Parts: sequence; structure tokens; C-alpha cells
Amino acid sequence: MMSSSSSLVPVPSPKRLEGKLAIITGGASGIGESTARLFVFHGAKVIIADVQDELALSLCKELNSDGESISYIRCDVTIDSDVKNVVDVALAKYGKLDIMYNNAGISGKLDPSILGADAENFKQVFDVNVYGAFLGAKHAARAMIAAKKGVILFTSSVASASCGESTHAYTMSKHAVVGLMKSLCVELGQHGIRVNCISPCAMATPLLTNLMGIEKNTVEELICASAVLKGAVPRAEDVAEAAVYLASEESKFVNGLNLLVDGGYSTTNQSLSMVLRNLMSSNQAL
Ligand SMILES: NC(=O)c1ccc[n+]([C@@H]2O[C@H](COP(=O)([O-])OP(=O)(O)OC[C@H]3O[C@@H](n4cnc5c(N)ncnc54)[C@H](O)[C@@H]3O)[C@@H](O)[C@H]2O)c1
Repeated sequence: MMSSSSSLVPVPSPKRLEGKLAIITGGASGIGESTARLFVFHGAKVIIADVQDELALSLCKELNSDGESISYIRCDVTIDSDVKNVVDVALAKYGKLDIMYNNAGISGKLDPSILGADAENFKQVFDVNVYGAFLGAKHAARAMIAAKKGVILFTSSVASASCGESTHAYTMSKHAVVGLMKSLCVELGQHGIRVNCISPCAMATPLLTNLMGIEKNTVEELICASAVLKGAVPRAEDVAEAAVYLASEESKFVNGLNLLVDGGYSTTNQSLSMVLRNLMSSNQAL
């Protein structure tokens, strides 16, 4: 006789990352900050690796009111020795690295046309978004292969699935991150290490509000107006929830996934319907 289904369903632990040690690059702001908060809430110890000292230290002060859950190490992800140092400190202090979230990224300059694209900007975007992510994975792998376990996460973007709304440099860099994740998941899967990626849609973090030069509420209104899924404002917290899932045991057989947190935005292309709607409303106005 089969046992009742309720006896098969494990009761989810309120602390889904209890005892885990995580490094989050770009953890001082936006998606990284939200993820740091949620990881700590779920019982993880977190090391923020970023270049914004003041923001990172004030986040640590806020979250450390009841212990030593979170710390900050200045780390420019484009500098090999900086990234190596963060992993070395994690190993020296905690003896392990369970989760490496390579999230730091920049939008680069707004240069939508290939003719206007400048080489310096291209190199900078690739340096942070691609080489930085690569270095994070490389140094994390050193610790994780020895332990025969671990989770490596990346933040890519909806630009990895739907093109034409970001600059060429940014779009290419985020495709490259997905390529890196897929390539690594094959090699590191052999060592029991899972490698996955999260691709958020536009969210009103400092990256986007600064780029657009528009305040947060207005950016969110624009995002919601163009969203496929209505009734929810996409926020950094939604990405953090995805990161907790991918970092936890609940996703123990999920590997090589680019998880889109975009409310279905990338599944469709509304250009034709927009042209038709505009045509119909201009005909009605005549
Ligand atoms: N906000 C969006 O609309 C959006 C959408 C899709 C993907 N993303 C991606 O999400 C990730 C996080 O961005 P966000 O939106 O939270 O922006 P954000 O600007 O709020 O946070 C990015 C963080 O990365 C850090 N950083 C930048 N360069 C660094 C470097 N060289 N070394 C170390 N840290 C560095 C910044 O200091 C900052 O704290 C990025 O990879 C971004 O491309 C953002």
C-alpha cells in the first residue's frame, strides 16, 4: 500500500540556506543587495565582494545587528588577485565555499547603434560582465572541486533571450555569461558542482535608473506598462528568491539552466501588435 502523499512531502525548512557560506559579487546594491538580505534571512553567511565600500559596510552594519552573518571584502571582479583573495579569505575564515554568485555587472554606455559604439565601453562591459564572472567561477571552482560540491550562479539578463532593447556590448556580454554557465555546468557537473544562471527583466535598480536618468517609480511604471505579466512589479527581491532556490537543496538536480525572471517578457514580440494598435488609433482619430 502506498503511503499517504503528505508523508512523502518534506516540510520546507524556513532557513533554506542554513550553514551555507556564500560570496555575492556586486552585493552592495540592487539585485546583489536583495540577495544578500535573503541569503542571510535563510541562514547563510554572506561575503559581499564589491567596490562600493560605503554601501556594503552600511548593509553589513544593518544585517549584523544580531551576529556575524555578513561581511564585506573590497573586490574589483576584473582583477584576478582581488577575486582570488575573496575566495582565499572565505576558505581561511569558514573552511569552505558553498555558493558563488557572480552577479556584479554594468550596463555600459547607451550606444544603441554599432556605428556609435565605442571600443573602450565595449571592453569595459566585457571586462566586468564576462571576465569578472569568469574569474569568480574559476576561483570558486578551485574551492568547490576539492570539496566535490558547490553551487555557482550568474546573473545574465533578459537580453540573453530577447534582443534589440539593450546595447550590442551588453547583449553580447549577457549571451556570453549564458555560454560560460553552460560550458561550466558540463565540466563542473563531474565534480558534483551545479552551475546555473538567472536572467532578470528590466528592474529599477541603480544600474537602470542611473542609465535612464529617471527616478525609480517612473522606471517601474514604464516597466509595468510594457510587461506581459500584469499585477506584479518586477523587483530585485524576485531575483533573490530565484537565487535562493538555485542555491538550495531544493534544486539539487537543476544544472545548466538559464532561469528567466521576466514575467514571460521574452516569450513574445509585441512590435507588430504595437504598430497595428497605433495604426488603428490614428485611423480612429481621423
Ligand atoms: N537592473 C536591471 O534591469 C537588470 C536586468 C537584467 C540583468 N541585470 C544584471 O543584474 C546584475 C546586478 O545589477 P543591478 O541591477 O543590481 O545593478 P546595481 O548597479 O544596483 O548593482 C551592481 C553592483 O555591481 C557592482 N560592481 C560593478 N562593477 C564591479 C566590479 N568591477 N567589481 C565588483 N563589483 C562591481 C556595483 O558596485 C554594484 O554594487 C548585473 O549583472 C546586471 O547586468 C540587471
